[in-house]
Amino acid sequence: MHSRRALLYMPGDNWKMISKSITLGVDSICMDMEDGTAINKKTEARATIAKALQELDFGASEKLARINSVGSGWEKDDIEAVLPHHPDGIVIPKVESFEQVEWASRIIEDAELKNGWGVNSIRILIGVETAKGILNLKEIAAHPRLDAVIFGGEDFAASVGATRTKDAIELLYARQTVVVACAAYDLQAIDIVAIDYKDLDALKAEAEQGAGLGFSGKQVIHPNQVPATQEAFTPSAEAIAYARRIVETFEASQKEGKGAYSLDGKMIDMPLLKSAEKVLARAKAAGK
Ligand code: COA
Ligand code: MG
Repeated sequence: MHSRRALLYMPGDNWKMISKSITLGVDSICMDMEDGTAINKKTEARATIAKALQELDFGASEKLARINSVGSGWEKDDIEAVLPHHPDGIVIPKVESFEQVEWASRIIEDAELKNGWGVNSIRILIGVETAKGILNLKEIAAHPRLDAVIFGGEDFAASVGATRTKDAIELLYARQTVVVACAAYDLQAIDIVAIDYKDLDALKAEAEQGAGLGFSGKQVIHPNQVPATQEAFTPSAEAIAYARRIVETFEASQKEGKGAYSLDGKMIDMPLLKSAEKVLARAKAAGK
């Protein structure tokens, strides 16, 4: 699966921002036709994204296009405008049911077959950002074409009537619901946007909080947010070294017939080994 520590959005009609995004070394680039694009720019966004997919070299960055929500009336034209140019994935916002994912999956599969592309070569990422989306996530997350669930904090707060705060306590239940569903179905969990994009200290704290909760990446909206976000979702050298020590000492301890043992004065047993293996897997995904 593509590493998605930082997923950068820009309005799909903004050629300048799309051109800039490919110079940033960002994991994923998400050209938006939904809420980042004005209602009178939807057509222009479709054409601009199609052109970008044809003409620009995205390098190692993933090419994503976000369509409008299924049921908005725009979604069919959105997906049909971009699919012929083979994006790496389609982002569907405000998903509330399995059927909405299935709708997109069928259209994508038709395009894959028609063009002789590999089936499943175009992935789906879903935005879950409403009360119904969170309630139904258990069923939705089982869709086989899914790679990731993106949690939209602002939309979710609006959906339940919560007031956004800096420590995001009002989002905790929903964020954990997303992390749990993603862990259960082996999906990536992508955390909220820090909309105060000039406050890099707040971004760092929020990104570290998200990584601590179990998210694998975060949505970003400005180039300045990319480096700190990538850093927060890449295990540190110390964390990697410690995880390696756990893996090594665990094996030795098992051979001695001990399920639990002491390392640096702390008890280590199976769950700690599993945690260490997750750290090493994330490090590997981040190219460490
Ligand atoms: N992607 C790529 N490049 C971006 C960018 C983005 N999301 N946001 C800003 N830039 C570029 C600008 O074009 C500018 O480029 P330049 O130096 O070559 O002129 C540079 O980064 C600095 O931008 P800045 O002037 O600080 O930002 P701004 O005031 O132009 O824009 C926002 C601020 C928030 C409006 C803008 O960052 C944005 O539109 N972000 C994406 C919003 C979005 O897509 N929302 C929907 C999903 S949540
Ligand atoms: Mg949203």
